[in-house]
Amino acid sequence: MSAAPLRLGLAGLGTVGIGVVKIVQAHADLIAARSGRAVSITAVSARDPKKNRDADLSAYAWETDPVALASRNDVDVFVEVMGGHDGPAKAATEAAIAAGKDVVTANKALLAHHGQALALAAETAGSTLRFEAAVAGGIPVIKALTEGLAGNRIKRVMGVMNGTCNYILTRMQSAGLPYDAVFEEARQLGYLEADPNLDVGGIDAGHKLSLLAAIAFGTRVSFDAVELEGIGNVSIDDIRLADDMGYRIKLLGVAQMTGRGLEQRMTPCLVPADSPLGQLQGGTNMVVLEGDSVGQIVLRGPGAGMGPTASAVMADVIDIARGLRLPTFGIPAADLVQPTAASAATPAPYYLRMTLLDKPGALAKIATCLGEAGISIDQMRQLHRPGDRAEDAVVLIVTHKAAPADIAEAMSRFAPTGVLVGAPVAIRIEEV
Ligand code: NAP
Ligand code: HSE
Repeated sequence: MSAAPLRLGLAGLGTVGIGVVKIVQAHADLIAARSGRAVSITAVSARDPKKNRDADLSAYAWETDPVALASRNDVDVFVEVMGGHDGPAKAATEAAIAAGKDVVTANKALLAHHGQALALAAETAGSTLRFEAAVAGGIPVIKALTEGLAGNRIKRVMGVMNGTCNYILTRMQSAGLPYDAVFEEARQLGYLEADPNLDVGGIDAGHKLSLLAAIAFGTRVSFDAVELEGIGNVSIDDIRLADDMGYRIKLLGVAQMTGRGLEQRMTPCLVPADSPLGQLQGGTNMVVLEGDSVGQIVLRGPGAGMGPTASAVMADVIDIARGLRLPTFGIPAADLVQPTAASAATPAPYYLRMTLLDKPGALAKIATCLGEAGISIDQMRQLHRPGDRAEDAVVLIVTHKAAPADIAEAMSRFAPTGVLVGAPVAIRIEEV
């Protein structure tokens, strides 16, 4: 093997960083054979030099400052696995690009906020910036979109991209436990990000969706335009009622280019229980890609964790070692267009749940509100369950397809009727 080794500078020695160390050490021969050259780590950086990290780091130089690591002469590729959308991750990535290094990152937050500027800087400098690990962990979805489906016009990108939310929702469903109890369980299992709202608020999954949308539609990353709703308001009642009707509730991301502009939403949705998305359990991720020639493909796998995420980081490293140089978002960053943000308008059936005063005419008033908003009822049930107040009735309505704006209009008409007890719930039923 005559080519010089590819030398990595690794910033971050947490879950993902140590996973990268383990793969580089365990698969040195395999990686060299596949890359046509050796891949080695020359220097590393983390906050605490004394921490026991369950890996032999003795052969690597230690840098306290990741920015210094990024510009070392003995580093060809800067691997950023520290996290955070500003601060050292951004500064060190910029320094690496300025020093002419290639960059591999697992940091979806960084790219959702600064992806356009960083990709432009890298491509202007003749460097490569890759991020397979940032979306859906071990699933090679960036490669699938950028390379495998390069001959397709992408119609829709959809998926469950946050394993923690999927764990919480599937555990609520299987164990019959309320949200708060399962959230606490997830915290104790170490599934939640340091700021749990990144997970349960849908932000982390929204970051990922915005990155996929940029590749799929040739648009600048526009995370701020993602319509976000987390899972904090999904109740065990809704999980049970959805189950009775043959549905599961998922935090589902959908991005599609419409005649009005780019629609991006990450919201709880009902999906058929027997669909691939409906059957997705625990922390697993699933991404559904629809192209005009290929039709629909479904990618399923581990969305997080040491091995899966480091596997994706190494896929990017090996591409660089092989000499494969692709624009970050599939086309040159300078050619990405600024999308017009379109709020979700595609009609869908909706699941509505509300508690009404159980008195004559209450249900008729609700039906009138729906009719006045142009919404037709497909199914309706009134429930009396042990523990419900005798004077209340829980009403479940499934509508025919309705525009989101019409649902919002109907919901705004409910309160003035005076028959509602508490707030009504509306969840979109997604055709998948
Ligand atoms: P982590 O376990 O918290 O590790 C972060 C590492 O970065 C630690 O080693 C930490 O040092 C180091 N670090 C933080 N701030 C630093 C600074 N200012 N200077 C130098 N080092 C610093 O995080 P992780 O789970 O590995 O995640 C890393 C990145 O991968 C994030 O962007 C995350 O979103 C992304 N990602 C993670 C997963 C996953 O499953 N974990 C999946 C996909 C993507 P100390 O160890 O000394 O504290
Ligand atoms: N918090 C993320 C998740 C980690 O639960 O999917 C992987 O990005």
